[in-house]
Amino acid sequence: MARMPMMAGNWKMNNTISEAVVLTQEIANQYEKKEWDEAVEIVLCTPFVDLKPAKTVLDFDKVKIEVAAQNVYWEPSGAYTGEISVPMIKEIGCAYSIIGHSERRELFGETDETVNKKVKALVAEDLGAIVCVGESLAVREDGSTIEFVTAQVRAAFAGLDADEVAQCVVAYEPIWAIGTGRTATPEQADEVCAAIRATVAEIADEATAEDMRVLYGGSMNPGNVDALLAMENIDGGLIGGASLKAESFVQLIKACL
Ligand code: 13P
Repeated sequence: MARMPMMAGNWKMNNTISEAVVLTQEIANQYEKKEWDEAVEIVLCTPFVDLKPAKTVLDFDKVKIEVAAQNVYWEPSGAYTGEISVPMIKEIGCAYSIIGHSERRELFGETDETVNKKVKALVAEDLGAIVCVGESLAVREDGSTIEFVTAQVRAAFAGLDADEVAQCVVAYEPIWAIGTGRTATPEQADEVCAAIRATVAEIADEATAEDMRVLYGGSMNPGNVDALLAMENIDGGLIGGASLKAESFVQLIKACL
């Protein structure tokens, strides 16, 4: 079966509740049930406080758009001041959480080990992880991108069986392309996404690798989306800036049809 493309908006630390409700409603208003229902999986990765309000709008409008967190802690409850657990986001109705975004790795001390713990906590509760991997400019210039990124994939999925890996999505986000307006070329992106898929085949199995969605993220926008999605191993996008306006995000969704 062909993989269903995924278009996921990563709002990062943007949108208060009132702003989130407006943006979610604008996207929901443009939902085209007949064309979109079976053709694309749409995900809004909002700040924690926006998850429930966004979900309420989407449920009221009966549109097939998922909400997802941008991070989660691996323990289910307890004395972890400031953290949010998997059962908490599950009860809101989240389908996924982003895990291991480069901003969390660079700014908040996320490591391959904590990424792995978080992925395990999500799949144990039957949620999916959108696992972010990607190299810095120094790694790219050094010629070790494939080695670096595939090691991140192995670490994220360490100790998971194939069924658990199958619940997840991988997003390849070269750090040098995030928020810079500098996109990887379709060929550069596809080469790494193919290597990610091959790694999944090794650590899980061929069928899991064949079915897994591998997304590209990093300055994806309505102007470059078609060329990226045309590549064999790119199954959608994880979108930062262009997901903050309904108009551009809907154009990206439509590129998946
Ligand atoms: P931009 O689309 O703003 O480059 O951000 C990409 C990203 O980090 C998505 O997670």
